[in-house]
This record gives sequence, C-alpha cells and structure tokens, in this order.
Amino acid sequence: MRRVIRAVSLALLAVCLTASAAFAMEIKLGIVTTPGSAQYIVAEKFKELVEERSKGDITVSIFHSASLGNETEILQQIQMNAVNMGVITLGPFDAFVPEVKVVNFPFLFKSYDHVSKILDGPLGKEVLKDIEKAGFKGLAFSENGFRNLSNNVRPVHSVEDVDGLKIRVMESALHKELWRVLGANPTPMGWPIYSELEQGVIDGQENPVSVIKVFKLYEVQKYLSLTGHVYSAHIDVANLGWFNGLDPEVQKMLSDSMYEAAVNERNWNRENEAGFLAELEKEGMIIDKNPDKASFRAKAVELKNMELFTKDPSTAALLDKFL
Ligand code: PAF
Repeated sequence: MRRVIRAVSLALLAVCLTASAAFAMEIKLGIVTTPGSAQYIVAEKFKELVEERSKGDITVSIFHSASLGNETEILQQIQMNAVNMGVITLGPFDAFVPEVKVVNFPFLFKSYDHVSKILDGPLGKEVLKDIEKAGFKGLAFSENGFRNLSNNVRPVHSVEDVDGLKIRVMESALHKELWRVLGANPTPMGWPIYSELEQGVIDGQENPVSVIKVFKLYEVQKYLSLTGHVYSAHIDVANLGWFNGLDPEVQKMLSDSMYEAAVNERNWNRENEAGFLAELEKEGMIIDKNPDKASFRAKAVELKNMELFTKDPSTAALLDKFL
C-alpha cells in the first residue's frame, strides 16, 4: 500500500512540476536609462506587479543602462522579439511609425492634466494602435515630463539666444527639424551623452528636469531655461506577435500591470518635479524659470506646414485631431 501511495505522490509531483514548468516564462524588458530613472521606475513596478500576480510563474528581467544599446537599437530588438518588451522614449519611435511624432508636436499640451486627459483617452489609444503597423503592441504611456533646454555657452531667454548652439537631439526627424527651425545646430545622438557634454562635443541638450537630475547633467551644464517645448512620453511596448500569442488572461494581466506601472511613474514624476528643480539650483545651475516661450512657439508652429507633417496623409490627419 505504501508503495502505491508513494508512486501516486511521485506521479502527482511530476504532473505539478511539468505544469508549472510549462507555464514558467521570462519576459525580457529593455530600457536605455539607469536605476532611479523614470523608465526604470516603470520597469521595476511592472516587474513587481507581474511577478506577484502570476505568483512567480512569470519573471521579468530588466536590461538597463544601455546594456542592449541605444533606444533605436532596443526597438529593433523588440521588433525581432530578441527582447520582448521595452519602455522607450517616444522620440526614436518616429523612424518606425511616422504618425507618433504628433505627440511630440511642440507646445501641444498645456499641463500634465491635459496630457493625461488626451493620452488616456481615444487619441492616445489611436497612437498605441498605430504602432502595431511596425510590429509593436502599445500598452501604455509613461513619461519624462516637459523638455527644457540646457547649455554651456550662454543664458537662453528668447529663441534668438539659441542661434548657432550645437544641441544634442534625440534620433528623431521631428526633434532635429524643430531645433533647426529654432536656430540651433542640432546633432542627433542616442543616449547617454554625459561625456559629449563634458568634452564640449556639443554645447547643450534638452530634457525634462528629472533626467537632468538623475544623470547629473548639472555637473556639465551651466544654464537651464524652462522652455517646456515638448511633452516627452515613453511608449511602453511589447513585440506584437509575441504578445498576441499569449493566453488572453495573461495579456490582460500584462496590460493592466503596465498601465498601473505607468500611472504610478507619472505620479512620481509630477510629485517630484519641483524638488528636482530645487536640487538643480542647489547644484549651481543658472535657471531661467520664465523664458520667453512665445518666441519659441512662434517659430515652432512653422513645423505644422512642413513636409514632416504634410507629406504623409495619416500623420497630417492625426495632427489635425490633436491640435
Ligand atoms: O533625451 C533622451 O534621449 C531621452 O529623453 C532619455 C534621456 C533617454 C530619457 O527618456
């Protein structure tokens, strides 16, 4: 009898182990930034929620600090499903899906409340759907915040002061064209850029205050102008084919977890922004808190009539809906 019980128990154990082994899954998630950054906060929360909700059957491995290359390279790896997911700044997406650049149109959003209303609503959903054309499943928007200009040459109050500055921009046609129109000499480059700023290869860059704080750019940049020219979102993505191949319940759990992780990070950014700014000031940055935004806006709106937005009809149509 004992032998029978032992044999049955062993058989049951084997069934259980096979079942859990069959279900076990590792999700590889790539980000370009380091622990403490906005992207990392999204990734970390997502990992915590997924591992808790799947009771450990699904594990999330976070590849950070550009260990997989820059954001364009991470997107290519997600397209090939060498990496399953990523939290990627919206800028580099426009090389894959031209329509998304609409979200980066200068001075499009008035406030964070305005951002949440639009990006959590039907227009945001339309953008997330658009990226499926390039093989990405868009799960949520998280953020860096509003981008501001820093440089080492002179204080920038109005757009005339930008003249000739060599500004690093994201690998994005929109960002390159924007800074050309504003009078700078734009230099597209992947992240990170600390040593280029330190060595004077570029005079300046533009990023939200959280990025300037987390990456200690105050050590290599003297002047900061709160231009708030572009709202900088991340799109939290997965490989479309991989995602669609998952059990619908798992898909829902991953979508819900990513949305919650994104909202948690947006709150973190918004609650801490004033504190980050105070720290930049304490570190010695010379900050223009009230630059002449109207002078920037007047030039930036010219983009609307440029090929970048007029050539592709679906991009033009989407911009009309946003404006
Ligand atoms: O400037 C960039 O490339 C991005 O804003 C960054 C720093 C990677 C954060 O998303």
